[in-house]
Amino acid sequence: MEKRSEMENMGIETVLKKKYSGKKILITGHTGFKGSWLISALNFLGAEIRGYSLHPDKDSLFNLMHCDKVCQSVFADIRAQEKLEYEITQFQPDFIFHLAAQSLVRPSYSDPAYTFEVNSMGTVNVLNSIRKLTKPCVVIVVTTDKVYENREINYSYQENDSLGGYDPYSASKACAEIIASSFRRSFFNAENYNEHKKSVATARAGNVIGGGDWAKDRIIPDLINSLTQKKAVKIRNPGSIRPWQHVLDGLSGYLLLGAKIAGDPVRYSEAWNLGPKDNDTLTVLELVGHAIKMWGTGKYECVNTDDQPHEASLLKLDSTKAMKHLGWVPKYDSRTGIMLTIEWYRKVLVEKISPADITLTQIKSYFSI
Ligand SMILES: NC(=O)c1ccc[n+]([C@@H]2O[C@H](COP(=O)([O-])OP(=O)(O)OC[C@H]3O[C@@H](n4cnc5c(N)ncnc54)[C@H](O)[C@@H]3O)[C@@H](O)[C@H]2O)c1
Repeated sequence: MEKRSEMENMGIETVLKKKYSGKKILITGHTGFKGSWLISALNFLGAEIRGYSLHPDKDSLFNLMHCDKVCQSVFADIRAQEKLEYEITQFQPDFIFHLAAQSLVRPSYSDPAYTFEVNSMGTVNVLNSIRKLTKPCVVIVVTTDKVYENREINYSYQENDSLGGYDPYSASKACAEIIASSFRRSFFNAENYNEHKKSVATARAGNVIGGGDWAKDRIIPDLINSLTQKKAVKIRNPGSIRPWQHVLDGLSGYLLLGAKIAGDPVRYSEAWNLGPKDNDTLTVLELVGHAIKMWGTGKYECVNTDDQPHEASLLKLDSTKAMKHLGWVPKYDSRTGIMLTIEWYRKVLVEKISPADITLTQIKSYFSI
């Protein structure tokens, strides 16, 4: 009979509480969309949280959920190496989730230098800073599904496929992967773990959907803005296939990866795909169709993209490795992810339920399955 994993025996909530409760966690990019969900999840798990980011946008999820009540913030630039190093050595984190990034493809065409500075050099700055810590520290560098050299064929990329990136955002994240790999071999080599006590892994997650995202140029915020203003949703790339994933599936992957490394600091320090199941693919048009149906009313309009910068049209991830070795499985298929996302916005915008409450309800429900 096959041995049952720790996760199957105890459930994800118990496993994560065991590893994170009372631990010091630094989140870079904590004022962003994923960072705010991560604060809420780690607070639920009983962690002590500190964040390092730029100031939140006025209407951000971070502000809507009053994240400042459960997390101490340092508002500074990830490019400021000395400041970052000071904050890291002062806080002495057990875990760092490095999310801070210029996170969008289209702005990366307008300001490629800034995108590379933040995404690539920002990663250097985080990894260079932890060299100053003498205690054990686990670092999860969050990159993206877009780090692969995309051949635009019906193929699901595996962790050992070539890195690449057409647009500056994707390339800057591929650089972050190479940087993490270099630091891992040069300074945090598994063979010398007892000397340096650092573990660095990278996590490549899919196109995230979930409540509380207000970023420009992302399909869900565009959709919700159009639906609430009773305007047609403008769709740029209706036929594009993306690995859509509910935010909690991605975050549970980051958390489980961190927990696994804490249990065995050398075995899991590598790159991990954390995407949806292989057969769970939807085009942008299908995603919008489902969302409009779930919202109950709305229209869309496909817009000409001839003068728009290049964006990948076919992207799939193979996450077999994470499912096999981390015991991680995406709990929500893309339709459930869309349903939960629409539910979040309906509760907040129509029923006027507090964003912190609905977010916590969705987190508790995720951990209880
Ligand atoms: N949202 C997605 O679909 C998706 C998919 C795959 C990977 N990712 C990655 O996940 C991470 C989080 O994504 P998100 O959607 O929450 O992004 P976001 O844009 O909502 O948040 C970005 C965060 O980074 C911080 N940041 C930006 N520039 C900074 C700088 N110069 N100095 C310090 N902090 C800075 C911001 O203040 C914010 O806290 C990013 O690394 C992103 O590339 C996102």
